[in-house]
Amino acid sequence: MAKILVATEKPFAPAAVEGIKNIAQKANYEVALLEKYESKDQLLEAVADADALIIRSDKVTKEVIEAGKNLKIVVRAGAGYDNVDLEAASANDVVVMNTPGQNSNAVAELALGMMVLLARGGYNGKAGSELRGKTIGIHAYGNVGRYVAEIAKGFGMEVAAHDPFVNKADIEKDGVKVYDTVEELYSNCQYVSLHIPANDKTKKSIGYDLLKSMPKNGVLVNTARKEVIDEDGMVKIMEERDDLKYISDIAPDNADVFPQKFEGRFFFTPKKMGAQTAEANINAGIAAVEQIINFIEKGDRTFQVNK
Ligand code: 3PG
Repeated sequence: MAKILVATEKPFAPAAVEGIKNIAQKANYEVALLEKYESKDQLLEAVADADALIIRSDKVTKEVIEAGKNLKIVVRAGAGYDNVDLEAASANDVVVMNTPGQNSNAVAELALGMMVLLARGGYNGKAGSELRGKTIGIHAYGNVGRYVAEIAKGFGMEVAAHDPFVNKADIEKDGVKVYDTVEELYSNCQYVSLHIPANDKTKKSIGYDLLKSMPKNGVLVNTARKEVIDEDGMVKIMEERDDLKYISDIAPDNADVFPQKFEGRFFFTPKKMGAQTAEANINAGIAAVEQIINFIEKGDRTFQVNK
């Protein structure tokens, strides 16, 4: 019986685990669960006899891939796969997939939720501000970006986007204004919501110059990855401009600086919370187990990311 290991340092909702187990059982697969593990060694041990691996932001390094002697497929139940060593996977004939779109609405709702939280001063009893009529620029118009656009329109915001990889007309048909350059997006939008992946081209790409160009009371909303921010550049411009704010789903590396210097101008989730809804966990978890079964039984490689 083939074995699927679900290794989630940040566990799925119980309903998602149950769903994964039910589907696996019907297809005659065994499921092993490794949740809230504290050391890499626990993962190395658990993966040793697994045929397939389902993860979230868990780090799948060369060591993990090589420890999985029977490993054929890793599915990142979610969008970003910057936590998986794709080269090592390919070198060991391990297919890597993600489950695009499955947790996107949850991330988008958090982005808007954090915007309201900050606009209302963390519900401190003082007069805050509203989102209606404000501009929001969506930096990368993928699955999450589309949901952010839809929800932001519901709030009555003016929505714009920049994404060189998406056809301009496809963005415009959603009633979203397109800026051809990233500089135009930042300089025209009070809010900017980040949805770029973390890779060699994007790491530290958002820093001093882009933030400096933002309109008065600019707010950067980051539900993507902390690695895309140039943290030194961000601190420098936030020191120079006391109207700028930063909201992020997971604290930056220099989080200690913020309460000292930027009181009331930031909000960070204590743990990455974007995809932490039962719905997103169920969608992504079920998609992951189905993709594994379809790959092992039928060779279906849809959503493979290490081609
Ligand atoms: C993703 O890339 O899908 C999100 O960042 C969610 O990550 P998580 O599964 O670790 O919450």
